[in-house]
Amino acid sequence: MNGTTGTRDFAPVLAQVKPEAERLIAQYPDSRSALLPILHAFQDVEGWVSPEAMTAAGAMLGLPVSVVESTASFYSLFFRRPVGKYVLQVCRNLSCQLNGAEKIMTHIRERLNIGHLETTHDGLFSYEEVECLAACDRAPCMQVNLDFVYDLTRENVDALLREIMAGTYETPPLRQTAKPAANWHVEQDWAQKSPGARGVSSPNDPGGMGDVSGLRMIERLADGPVVLSGRPTEERLIVEGAARLKHTGSANEH
Ligand code: FES
Repeated sequence: MNGTTGTRDFAPVLAQVKPEAERLIAQYPDSRSALLPILHAFQDVEGWVSPEAMTAAGAMLGLPVSVVESTASFYSLFFRRPVGKYVLQVCRNLSCQLNGAEKIMTHIRERLNIGHLETTHDGLFSYEEVECLAACDRAPCMQVNLDFVYDLTRENVDALLREIMAGTYETPPLRQTAKPAANWHVEQDWAQKSPGARGVSSPNDPGGMGDVSGLRMIERLADGPVVLSGRPTEERLIVEGAARLKHTGSANEH
């Protein structure tokens, strides 16, 4: 592999990542276990995981590119297109929705004047609404360049945005080796995602106020007995949220 792909020479990136990749591969009995940290290493250098990086990772580990791509596309930890210096990923899943995520999402959209999967014109912010970040006990929450920010309010979001714009925010910016597009070409991603799961948002949903998939899921729960995976659930937030919706009659009244 000479590192030259498409219209750009990938060799300098490869040379930077290779020593770290070799160190990672040597740590695991099965080299494919090094895939995620190697993708992170490429993202650290380029600010995103480019197609060339995925091809290179596959070659290092003896994996088909399709395996690398399907792994990278599973995680919101990997940016598969050039993004802003700060990527705000707000959780739009159930616990966060019940704790006011929608207000937070609307607030950020209005403050930055961008929508789901879009980047501000100055390339400073990208914004994405993601599925559960596994921090449900501190809902609503988001990740900023993959660092968690918990217990979001409009006030602490404003403070965070101000610090980022002033260059004083504690989490460093991502490296930007390519100019982010104004949007992330969501249509192009559609073919790579599973359309099968009920209740999973379409990547073509606009997100935020325009994306009603999260609310529809809660409404479905409120319509009948709260049953998940064939069994009644005792998950407190879901049961309480569904009961509250039954009481008020409609999710849209919130
Ligand atoms: S629902 Fe938001 S972190 Fe789990």
